[in-house]
Amino acid sequence: MDLFEYQARDLFEAGGVPVLPGRVASTPEQAAAAAAEIATPVVVVKAQVKTGGRGKAGGVKLARSPQEAGERAAEILGLDIRGHQVHQVMVAAGADIAEEYYFSLLLDRSSGGYLAMCSREGGMDIETLAVERPEALIRTPVDPLVGLDAATAAQIVADAGFDEADRPAIADVLVTLGRVYADNDATLVEVNPLVKTGDGAIIALDGKITLDDNAAFRHPEWEQYAESSDADPLEVRAKAKGLNYVKLDGTVGVIGNGAGLVMSTLDVVAAAGAELPGQPRPANFLDIGGGASASVMADGLEIILADPQVRVVLVNVFGGITACSEVAKGISDALAMLGDKASKPIVVRLDGNAVEIGRHLLIEAAHPLVELADTMDAAARRAAELAAD
Ligand SMILES: Nc1ncnc2c1ncn2[C@@H]1O[C@H](COP(=O)(O)OP(=O)(O)O)[C@@H](O)[C@H]1O
Ligand SMILES: [Mg+2]
Repeated sequence: MDLFEYQARDLFEAGGVPVLPGRVASTPEQAAAAAAEIATPVVVVKAQVKTGGRGKAGGVKLARSPQEAGERAAEILGLDIRGHQVHQVMVAAGADIAEEYYFSLLLDRSSGGYLAMCSREGGMDIETLAVERPEALIRTPVDPLVGLDAATAAQIVADAGFDEADRPAIADVLVTLGRVYADNDATLVEVNPLVKTGDGAIIALDGKITLDDNAAFRHPEWEQYAESSDADPLEVRAKAKGLNYVKLDGTVGVIGNGAGLVMSTLDVVAAAGAELPGQPRPANFLDIGGGASASVMADGLEIILADPQVRVVLVNVFGGITACSEVAKGISDALAMLGDKASKPIVVRLDGNAVEIGRHLLIEAAHPLVELADTMDAAARRAAELAAD
């Protein structure tokens, strides 16, 4: 789960990372009041969206009075920044920036450890820097059992080429960021820019934190983030029902059992759709898992039918632990429950455990929206045809 900048700022502050005062606001009036409270000669009004490049997109603006802060907030609230609508801004004290640096610490799956990245040249798009001047971005493996200790931090600031005089203060901040990373079960902590101010202070001016969802069970306080997150409403609903669902942008809803089968179903649908008008593509990933009951199947179907982009649903189940009879029952239950609200065709391919009973149940029910297909390829082709323009 990604956090908003203001949430990262709060965690930084709690963990002892130097940050500037900041307050979140969802109306221009609140933004003006926040600026009055912060009471620095200059404040910045910053869009709170979970994407970078806000500065370039007009989502970061200076203001010299509470009234101006309100005006800037009015301009920024409602903006669309790379597909993310701005519902909140953070009003923060303005910094007197002398230099902008880059620092991040992240989980590196390939090495099974952490990776620290640091550059004297921050502020800009770090992906561009990594491509155009890779030598300016140094990478340092960090042992998860040790963490980002003082020795490693000293190495990083030396390798990154900071001036001798600045190194101790920057290294201190890196160690503190390392502690924030570990204490919060993060998979990413990124500061871009980390700045040196006119009077030599080192401050984290922008923060990004990704929390490891696998650690949610030991962080009851993360509830607060779920509420404010801008996740797709269907994803939130699916999660509440314990379903493994990811929204995609196509028109063919896909339900299967087992991540591998669902992934390959997505591929087969995309391949079948590529040759058709409008090139229909998968609308989602939904794995009902092993041993799914009729009610799990019904929950899944309900979620997918609620996606207005979906034109057709493809159910592809290979029964192992999951009995095809349960899947068939789930489809019938969902259709009975939805009644007239179900208006989209459903192509069903069943195979494996209890397939005869499952197919028989669906043929008996003879629901006008349900079509059976014999093979995965045939089912994907038929679903793609039904979704084509
Ligand atoms: N509190 C602040 N005071 C002064 N300038 C700021 C402040 N916060 C951000 N900026 C400036 O705006 C730029 C972009 O802001 P940032 O928070 O990094 O957003 P993004 O990375 O999404 O563009 C920063 O590189 C910095 O130059
Ligand atoms: Mg930034």
